[in-house]
Formats: sequence, structure tokens, C-alpha cells
Amino acid sequence: MIKVLNVCGARPNFMKIAPLMQAYQASGEFEALLAHTGQHYDSNMSDLFFRQLGIPEPDLNLGVGSGSHAVQTAQIMTRFEPVLEDHQPDWVVVVGDVNSTIACALVAVKMGIRVAHVEAGLRSFDRSMPEEINRLLTDSIADLLLVSEPSGLENLRREGVPDEKIHYVGNVMIDTLLANRDQAERSTVLARQGIESGNYNVVTLHRPRNVDDPTVFGRIAEALEVIQDDLPTVFPMHPRTRHSLARLGLAERFEGMKRLQIIEPLGYLDFLKLMANASVVLTDSGGIQEETTILGVWCLTLRENTERPITLTAGTSTLVGSDPRRIIEAYRQCRTTPPGGRSVPEKWDGLAAHRIARLLSTYIPAPREPVPLVGVPMLSLTQ
Ligand code: UD1
Repeated sequence: MIKVLNVCGARPNFMKIAPLMQAYQASGEFEALLAHTGQHYDSNMSDLFFRQLGIPEPDLNLGVGSGSHAVQTAQIMTRFEPVLEDHQPDWVVVVGDVNSTIACALVAVKMGIRVAHVEAGLRSFDRSMPEEINRLLTDSIADLLLVSEPSGLENLRREGVPDEKIHYVGNVMIDTLLANRDQAERSTVLARQGIESGNYNVVTLHRPRNVDDPTVFGRIAEALEVIQDDLPTVFPMHPRTRHSLARLGLAERFEGMKRLQIIEPLGYLDFLKLMANASVVLTDSGGIQEETTILGVWCLTLRENTERPITLTAGTSTLVGSDPRRIIEAYRQCRTTPPGGRSVPEKWDGLAAHRIARLLSTYIPAPREPVPLVGVPMLSLTQ
């Protein structure tokens, strides 16, 4: 049996881990363990996803909770090290780009345990994003880089990663979407919100750049005032964003938007139903850009860049930043044009987790050797 220890910690990890745990079980070749770092801990940010997606109870709960990046990352590392000492897995599998991803990869690599990174190679080229730092660092130390979209291959090759480490496997998040789509259709969320299919918008926001700065958040509010006037707009609010609203003194302004429905974060099935039937989705999330691409729903991405460019070229997403005029103009265009002409990216077919399980069971990693200094110009002592 191959012993594989999987790491999850924050909401966007759970839908990536779910199909992997199922694929290990289906293959019969694995002893699969699950460690939850506790980076996200509210019931509707964590437990609900485990229940709805049938993820087994974590074997290990590190219970780290919130903190500054340094505190959170350090605590995950400190608590993960004894777990690896106890369990000595053949592989540690980390997903995505959150603090749990880099923290656990770093601990494993230093203990000589092989690391596979699911969703490797994505780059926003924006080093002010904590996730970009997590992506760069994780990819530079992982042994196996499992790529979800073509840009990931290009980025890793350009960074000089040897070809044998890189594998294009497809998108595990789409595995989860396709597996749960029918069940999500049965969700009663539209009735509960008093909205009708095709006649409402959805908003999600949580990036520090959008919600921690009063000017930027104020500009987005200006756009939302116009958008919610056009159609009822449902805003399942991330805890970080809720804290910011109060702290930045914007709560009253949002309360004044009578057709903006601010609600608690939703579970996976309700949110999938909400996205699938929306007129326009406005978001700064990474995963939602991919999900709307498959659902064929317009997505306005409230960022200046994306690490998922396939969602712009093949998908339904447009980058609109935080300028209200630009957001409103793009929104009006979406409202008058159906989102046709998209194509499904290669291997976003529901089988990515099976490809990963197959690779983990057959892959023989090259021994870790010091990199020879071939081709590196020697520094002259007089320089
Ligand atoms: C994290 C990830 C981000 C991901 C996002 C999805 C990093 C660097 N960031 O950002 O990549 O897109 O999750 O949600 O790992 N909080 C709660 N309850 C919770 C979780 C968080 O109240 O269950 C609060 C925390 O106290 C904190 C804030 O939300 O004040 C932010 O949480 P944190 O985990 O630090 O980062 P996210 O912004 O959620």
C-alpha cells in the first residue's frame, strides 16, 4: 500500500481534496490519511463542506485557526512536523495556494518526504498576493507538479522545472463540480432568497486588496449600488469581508443597497446552484472563475490579473479590476449578450483525481541530488 497524507486547511481546499480521497479509495492501492490544519474553522467555512462532499473525517486536526501570515504558517509547520514523524507517509499531497499548502510542503520536503502539488504552475505574476508567494515557493520545492491548465505547463517550463516532474492532469475542482451538479440542482436556495433563475447576480469578495482598503472597497461598493439596482444580487459574505465592512465604516452604505442580499457563506451545493443559475457572477475568487467557465455563466473578475488565464481565453471570465465605470460597463455588456463561444479546457472532464492517483502509484521520483552548477557563470572575485 502507498501511504499518502493529504493536507487541507481552507475552504477552497475542500472541493479539491474530496475527489482525491474518493480516487484513492477506488484504486485500492492507497492508505490515505487526511490532515486538516484548521486554517478555516467556522462550521459554514469547513464542516458543511465535509458533510456535503462526503469527505471522510480528518485523521488529524491541527486546529491552528487565524493569525498573521507568519503566525499561521509557523503554527501549521510546528504542528505538522510531529504528524509526519508519527506517520512517515510515502507522499504528502498539498493542493492550491493557501498558507497550509506551503507550510506543510516545506515541513515534508525538509524531512525527506515526497511532496505532490495539485494545481501547480499557476501564476498571477503579482507578488503582492500572498497566494502567489505560496504558489512559487511550493512549486519550487515539490517533487511532483500536477498541473490543471495549459498556462501552468508554460510557467513551470519557463522557470526551469525538469519535464519529468510536470504532469498535466486536469482540474480536480471540476471533478467535484461535475460530480455534484445534479444534486446541487435540488437545492432550495433560490426560493429561500426569493429569486428566480437567470434574474439575479452573485457577488463574492475576500481578497485583502479589495476588502482591506477603504478606497478600493468603496469603489466596488459604487459599482454594486448600480448593479443591485438592475437585478437582486446575492452576496454570501466571507468572514474577512464582514470584519472589514464594520472596521472600514462601510456597513451603513451596504445596508442602503436594498436589493443586495448579504448572507452568511453558503455550503457547496447551495452555492453551486446559485452560480449555475445566475445572470452574472462578480468575484475575486480563483476557483469561481473556473467553475463559471464550466457552467457557462458570465464572470466578472474583480482583479487586475488572474493566475487562471484559460478562464479568459476559453471561458466566460473578464478581468474588470475595481474601477466602478469599468465594472458597470462590463456588467451591462454581459446583460445584453449570452455567454456563447466558450470551450471546455482539456482534461476538465471529471477524471483529474483518478489521473493523480494513478501517477502517485506509479511515479518513481528521481533521487534528490544537489543541482550541479553546470552553465552557471562563475563570479569573478574582482566584480
Ligand atoms: C484564505 C486563503 C485564500 C483563499 C481563501 C478562501 C491564504 C493566504 N489565503 O484567505 O487563498 O482564497 O482563504 O476563503 O491562505 N475567518 C473566520 N472564520 C473562518 C476562517 C477565517 O472568521 O472559518 C476570518 C479569520 O479570522 C481572518 C479572516 O477570516 O480574520 C481571514 O482568514 P484567513 O484564513 O487568514 O485568510 P482568507 O482571507 O480566508
